[in-house]
Amino acid sequence: AAVLREAYREPDWLVPEIALEFALGPDRTVVRATLRVERNGGHREPLRLDGEDLALVGVRVDGRPAEHRYADGVLSIPLGGDTAEVETVVEISPNSNSQLMGLYESGGILCTQCEAEGFRRITFFPDRPDVLSSYKVRMTADKARYPVLLANGDPVAAGDAGEGRHWAEWHDPFPKPCYLFALVAGDLVANRDQFVTAGGKTVELGIWVREGDLAKTEHAMASLKAAMAWDERVYGREYDLGVFNIVAVSDFNFGAMENKGLNIFNSRYILADPDTATDADYDAIAGVVAHEYFHNWSGNRVTCRDWFQLSLKEGFTVFRDQQFSADQGSPAVKRIEDVRVLRAAQFPEDAGPLAHPVRPESYIEISNFYTATVYNKGAELIRMIHTILGPDKFRAGSDLYFERHDGEAATCEDFVAAMEDASGCDLSQFRLWYSQAGTPRVRADLTHHAGDGRAHLELAQELPSTPGQDQKKPMPIPLKVALFGELTGEKYADRLVVLEETAQEIVFEGIGERPILSINRDFSAPVVIESGRSADDLAFLSAQDDNPFARYEAMQQLMLDTLVAAVAGGKADHAAVIEAVRRTLEDERLDAAFVAEAVLLPTEAFIGDQMLVVDPEAIHAAREALRTDLGQELEPLWRSAYASTAANRFETSPSAKGARRLRTVALGYLMAAGAEDAAALALAQFEGADNMTDRQGALGMLSNSDAAERDRALDAFYARYRSNALVLDKWFSVQALSTRDDTAEAVERLAKHPDFTLANPNRMRALVGAFAANQRAFHQTDGRGYRFLAEMILAVDKLNPQTAARLVPPLGRWRRFDEARAALMQAELRRVVETKGLSKDVFEQASKSLG
Ligand code: ARG
Ligand code: ZN
Repeated sequence: AAVLREAYREPDWLVPEIALEFALGPDRTVVRATLRVERNGGHREPLRLDGEDLALVGVRVDGRPAEHRYADGVLSIPLGGDTAEVETVVEISPNSNSQLMGLYESGGILCTQCEAEGFRRITFFPDRPDVLSSYKVRMTADKARYPVLLANGDPVAAGDAGEGRHWAEWHDPFPKPCYLFALVAGDLVANRDQFVTAGGKTVELGIWVREGDLAKTEHAMASLKAAMAWDERVYGREYDLGVFNIVAVSDFNFGAMENKGLNIFNSRYILADPDTATDADYDAIAGVVAHEYFHNWSGNRVTCRDWFQLSLKEGFTVFRDQQFSADQGSPAVKRIEDVRVLRAAQFPEDAGPLAHPVRPESYIEISNFYTATVYNKGAELIRMIHTILGPDKFRAGSDLYFERHDGEAATCEDFVAAMEDASGCDLSQFRLWYSQAGTPRVRADLTHHAGDGRAHLELAQELPSTPGQDQKKPMPIPLKVALFGELTGEKYADRLVVLEETAQEIVFEGIGERPILSINRDFSAPVVIESGRSADDLAFLSAQDDNPFARYEAMQQLMLDTLVAAVAGGKADHAAVIEAVRRTLEDERLDAAFVAEAVLLPTEAFIGDQMLVVDPEAIHAAREALRTDLGQELEPLWRSAYASTAANRFETSPSAKGARRLRTVALGYLMAAGAEDAAALALAQFEGADNMTDRQGALGMLSNSDAAERDRALDAFYARYRSNALVLDKWFSVQALSTRDDTAEAVERLAKHPDFTLANPNRMRALVGAFAANQRAFHQTDGRGYRFLAEMILAVDKLNPQTAARLVPPLGRWRRFDEARAALMQAELRRVVETKGLSKDVFEQASKSLG
């Protein structure tokens, strides 16, 4: 039963107002909903309300018991007039809700998650994003167990209910779709602060956590205030309610949720202190806090008409949070990180059986479409519009979009149209980026004629076919291009070329020496460039390009070419990479964070993505050989990098963060070199660290080794943090990511560890998700990795289908492997698909993966 984008119809009934009354209890919660409904158009259809896992107690229309029918998840109520007041009463059970969708219990806190279709698990309602209502919510609960009662909007009244219970009422004046509904009841404390908007309004801010976690909320609060100010400054967007609350819970299916005025977060994206969170954790917190806050405009004030438009809010909001983070720290390093995520998660999706356009055409289960394509490629589409229009016209387009569609449920088309209308730029061909799946490949060939001083850049694009799409049209591809003189290093050209045709030639004049091509600078388009540039040219760019991203990219390409050649030919020439890394380490103008990124080798998975048939063992061997050579040849440089980045005391400044990053990278190369003292250095860093970045960095390096220091560090880490779930996740991950030969067995053992649980999505991902990303261990030839993953998928599916479905894609890569592995992977997928009682979440992913 697939849902089709083409089949969209306006809702038959609108619900301008809803009043909800919750009698909250962990085993049993009673929900009374009163809907004011209005017929939309001249039809005679009954009112149809979605419901799932609801025990229906009663239905009344205009105060009287009413005729109704409840079957297959729909409650139908025939209504004579054009308006009515419809009341339903249902019972639900929060503490038996293991799906973590709807109202559920996490660590004693009652909380909700409604996006995409969780509201129907709370009450009967037209559960679709184009039905907008104003909400009044009244909650009653035990006062001792749930002293804090929160919902969307502003608090309006509270009081005692007798018998140890109390009540609170919240009203949200901004009409919203039901996926943005939220409530929280729990024993929570708040980090409270205030923000004064540009318009002079004071907003009460609260970050709500369990008592012991209060000290870990400072960074999230600082990030929130920075995000609020940034959105005013850069997008002219002010906050609109008197309060803004965030609640952290430990059981959560994904990162966080932008419920109006009441964001609910996975605690890993709120809680941080130097002892328990890494620099990367700090950055992720700032990014996610900003992301959810930015949704208040891009998502809540303007929402989505239907779920095919998901990228309208997610692509735009990811772009906004990326811009914010770039402004907070180093734009170049942020861009490198974003591109790394895109290549690791989205490119494989585009190249595999689950490929879909940024605006999908159909789905079986919408939860499966919260993907890297909708989010991260979606953000790249917005970034390309930004690049093509320039910042001023882009801002004008954004202003027009918000002005036109405030209070509405809009489409991706509406966004592009606003950009077009405000800028005067024609984006008609650009729309293909929303409808065509797959990663374009751009061939770039530069030739030079010394005689007339001209350089010719021949560009050609090709978009591979993807499931259901064989015929593709050329798309506009914005490429930032520069040319550098080989002899003088002079920059001859620096411009934006928009490749619109299948093939196009660009001519550059006045170039008196052989030029070297720098292309897709800043990663201006989410494409693969095939330029055939020589190792010498890449080495030149890695040392001299004035665009830091391009410099990083040239180094990556040089490393990749070297590794792919080594895997193919067995014989490896490491000299060019070693020289380029040497130059980077010796370049004193570069900051440590950039150096750390630049000298890292591409991951085994990314090397695999370049090959027709992935050979995990050969890739691992080639990469380790290069790592060892780099470690040994440049040992003095790694030692001095290690020594110069040693800190006496923890600091959060960008330079201190960069130093920590480079320090662990240098340690890794010393270990790869087989330096005698490397394990001892790592253990000393581990034991002496006053922060989690250094400690986890050292532990990660040790977890790859056979040294005695390894177990000592792992045991010490466990003993110290066993009661901190977020840090214990790291202990599981580090072992699942180990490059040791026995990792698959170790992971199977860890799945039986008393601290492992299928019920917590973070713990699941920490062990199982990390293992499936460990290419060599997961693809061990005996197929035990595949069997383990399939068993986990089936076990988790019984509790939490969304989390289970997200574990399926690694098995879907079977087409890229040798016959023996492919057969083993398909067999596991078949076993999954044939299991009785499978969720539609897992069914969709596994059946599509089989093809
Ligand atoms: N809107 C949320 C965010 O982007 C994520 C909701 C994910 N929902 C889902 N069913 N996977 O922050
Ligand atoms: Zn989002």
